[in-house]
Amino acid sequence: MKILVTGAAGQIGSELVPALREKYGKENVIALYHKNVPEDSGIHEIGDAGDKKLLESLISKYDIATVYHLVGILSAKGEQDPDLAYNVNMGSLKNILDIAKDKKQTGKELRVFWPSSIAALPPLYNTPQRTVLEPSTMYGVTKVAGELLVNYYFKKYGIDIRSLRYPGLISWKTPPGGGTTDYAIAIFYGALKEKKYTSFLKAGTYLPMMYMDDGVRATIELMEADPSKISIRTSYNLTAVSFEPGEIAAEIKKRIPEFEISYKPDFRQQIADSWPKSIDDSAARKDWNWKHNYGLNEMVSDMLKHLEPMLKS
Ligand code: SER
Repeated sequence: MKILVTGAAGQIGSELVPALREKYGKENVIALYHKNVPEDSGIHEIGDAGDKKLLESLISKYDIATVYHLVGILSAKGEQDPDLAYNVNMGSLKNILDIAKDKKQTGKELRVFWPSSIAALPPLYNTPQRTVLEPSTMYGVTKVAGELLVNYYFKKYGIDIRSLRYPGLISWKTPPGGGTTDYAIAIFYGALKEKKYTSFLKAGTYLPMMYMDDGVRATIELMEADPSKISIRTSYNLTAVSFEPGEIAAEIKKRIPEFEISYKPDFRQQIADSWPKSIDDSAARKDWNWKHNYGLNEMVSDMLKHLEPMLKS
């Protein structure tokens, strides 16, 4: 029962790959990197996750039963190059779904995980699972279209594809990489290196967030859940906490008293303003027992604990 992870060097992949290897054995997890291979002690391949032939050949070479299809362009980078965001986010998903469909016709199942995002959702507090989906970013457009596509392939072809609408994920293994929620990662670099940070979102901008440890665990728990428990085949709302830049700055200041935040909003403010302030993820909590472990306080402590030695070395 082998696993393929695309986008393995990305924000989620960098932490999901080691977690999957730990759980299912190193020999069972194949990481697909685009160009650069980070330090990786396991089986890996290099290539373009948008290349359908490559994916087909890897799935057959390793007899893959599960794909975590993580490759994607995030929101802010996507607004700078909407065509790239469309091609990467949509094209490769359609390829994976078609491969799963073809495999099913030969009697073999391919279980697929695909990430959606808060970027699909409207700017509400306690945003419900089912609501108006009219995003204003290309990233959000690809997430809504992707959700509808995966639901279609589930209903029409019976493909077991599962998805989460991730909130902003806070992690220390990869540097901030083109997301709007990434201010909440960059702030730690600023705090540790210069004792100050200029936020590209203004004070009071609430966004749903989650520590990566919880994000990785949620992903694996969803993929392990019995299919009968999965009532949502578009994508599950998922959250841990919701905070604004001033609140995370205050938590950092408790640990680094000289730290100061200032504000200089840029084009990412408009993106953030179009996104949910907080999320109702009760369907995930009810269907497959989702529970988060990290609040803001625990998240800030753990980020500083890991990043401090890393930035010194
Ligand atoms: N973290 C993502 C971003 O900011 C949202 O899914 O683009």
